[in-house]
Amino acid sequence: MLMEVKNLTASYGNIEVLHGVDFNIERGEIVTLIGANGAGKTSILMSLARLVRPEAPVVSGGDILYDGKSILKTEPHTLVQNHLLALVPEGRHIFGNLTVEENLKIAAYPHHNKSDRAVIESEIRGMVYELFPRLTERRKQRGELLSGGEQQMLAVGRALMTGAAFIMLDEPSMGLAPKLMHEMFRALRQLNQEKNITILVVEQNAKVALEFAGRGYVLKTGEIIAGGTSEELIANPGVKKAYLGG
Ligand SMILES: Nc1ncnc2c1ncn2[C@@H]1O[C@H](COP(=O)(O)OP(=O)(O)O)[C@@H](O)[C@H]1O
Ligand SMILES: [Mg+2]
Repeated sequence: MLMEVKNLTASYGNIEVLHGVDFNIERGEIVTLIGANGAGKTSILMSLARLVRPEAPVVSGGDILYDGKSILKTEPHTLVQNHLLALVPEGRHIFGNLTVEENLKIAAYPHHNKSDRAVIESEIRGMVYELFPRLTERRKQRGELLSGGEQQMLAVGRALMTGAAFIMLDEPSMGLAPKLMHEMFRALRQLNQEKNITILVVEQNAKVALEFAGRGYVLKTGEIIAGGTSEELIANPGVKKAYLGG
């Protein structure tokens, strides 16, 4: 198992928002976590990435195992430097005043020597521009001038430049027109198939997420209330009614 989340609880101050969450992800899988606004999706991703920030919850119980070992005491930069995981956060968090190419280079630095220019540039071409040809055309453009879809592609590109084996995405479809959303999911599936990158995607858009993922879990007010293959969840009357518009 690549990732095992066991009885995870997490809180903001003294308010617990994850109440004993259990789920797992095998290497090479695409798994989705669906749930309404406020269900705790972002809190789970921030807990898994071990983020220690004012906006991140504090894990107060349970365990998170990566390749069978607890990462509860691992620093977030260690997870990134060792290529274990990368988070594509909600709202993208790219550097608006830097160009597309500068954004990608910065993401590569933690595990490259800054003077390895040729290596970094070839990785940008091979890993990001090949997947998102649109970004090649925009490579000298400042981040803030990109469309929402292009910014989302750049955010995924930054995660790829870390060389992570496991990528977590927080609502990648948010704000994207259907065409760009499908392009994004197509690219993610290609990454999964060709590079064996394991993917966890959290989404409010359950229909899109279940079409994309092989397996999923349903999160409601900090608890997992259902899980199964995407086909099983799509056929589940409760899931259908609450998350798929009947
Ligand atoms: N920084 C924060 N401080 C306090 N409560 C928060 C914070 N962020 C989120 N919450 C609360 O935690 C719960 C889960 O939120 P979140 O993980 O953002 O859900 P989702 O991503 O599914 O919309 C919600 O009740 C939300 O109001
Ligand atoms: Mg969220």
